[in-house]
Amino acid sequence: MSNGGEAADLAPVRTERLLLRRLRADDLDAVHSFQSRADVARYLYRNAMTRDEAGAWLASSIASRFADEGTTLRLALTVPPDDRCIGYVHLHRANNPARQAETGYVIHPDHAGRGYATEAAREALALGFEHFGFHRIFARVDAQNAASIRICERLGMRREAHLVENDRRNGRWGSELVYAMLAREWNAAYPDPVFRPVHPEVNVHGGDEATNSGSSA
Ligand SMILES: CC(C)(COP(=O)(O)OP(=O)(O)OC[C@H]1O[C@@H](n2cnc3c(N)ncnc32)[C@H](O)[C@@H]1OP(=O)(O)O)[C@@H](O)C(=O)NCCC(=O)NCCS
Repeated sequence: MSNGGEAADLAPVRTERLLLRRLRADDLDAVHSFQSRADVARYLYRNAMTRDEAGAWLASSIASRFADEGTTLRLALTVPPDDRCIGYVHLHRANNPARQAETGYVIHPDHAGRGYATEAAREALALGFEHFGFHRIFARVDAQNAASIRICERLGMRREAHLVENDRRNGRWGSELVYAMLAREWNAAYPDPVFRPVHPEVNVHGGDEATNSGSSA
């Protein structure tokens, strides 16, 4: 476990039903198919993406080394043996000295309702606590995003805050919930390691440039 460690040694990660791997340039069609949807962008802090925007998002995801504060590690969700990217999870370095990270997740609506996002988000927490050594991992969730709220609560994250009308987008006020978990809470909930990299010889994080975006989703 290493707090400040880069992700250079991070291999694809296997969960019960999913394989989480680095995003690749040839994921563009799949990524665009969900990033361009209004129902996906609705509760994220951005608009639906054009193909060019999805391409730029993908390029920055591929390039990120996830070492400096403000950088983001995004992993594609696939359902083996299919290699198609059906969504992603991310960890965003919010504060390196305090070992704080933000997590988030997106699943293509065609694959929703099967628990894949919960399974992937649990693995993102495992990765964050067990591999990267974060002290606290949090998620910011639109107060109307019922499906995402259920994920945070299924994972045992604590509701820390309810910010009221702290955002305004497309003519409407947005309110936000903050959910979080501490490393000691994770260890109490999961005394046995959850993080299980496969193919450890595969370097899945070989990009050179850091990304530094205001919105980590
Ligand atoms: C938020 C989002 C990821 C939730 O997706 P989801 O498919 O509802 O979440 P899961 O994959 O964990 O599926 C959970 C559902 O699958 C069901 N399910 C079926 N099989 C399951 C299994 N094996 N394990 C767990 N749940 C299972 C659950 O009952 C649950 O249904 P419920 O929420 O009606 O109770 C998705 O709506 C999304 O991508 N939204 C757009 C982006 C977004 O808002 N992201 C969050 C930003 S904070």
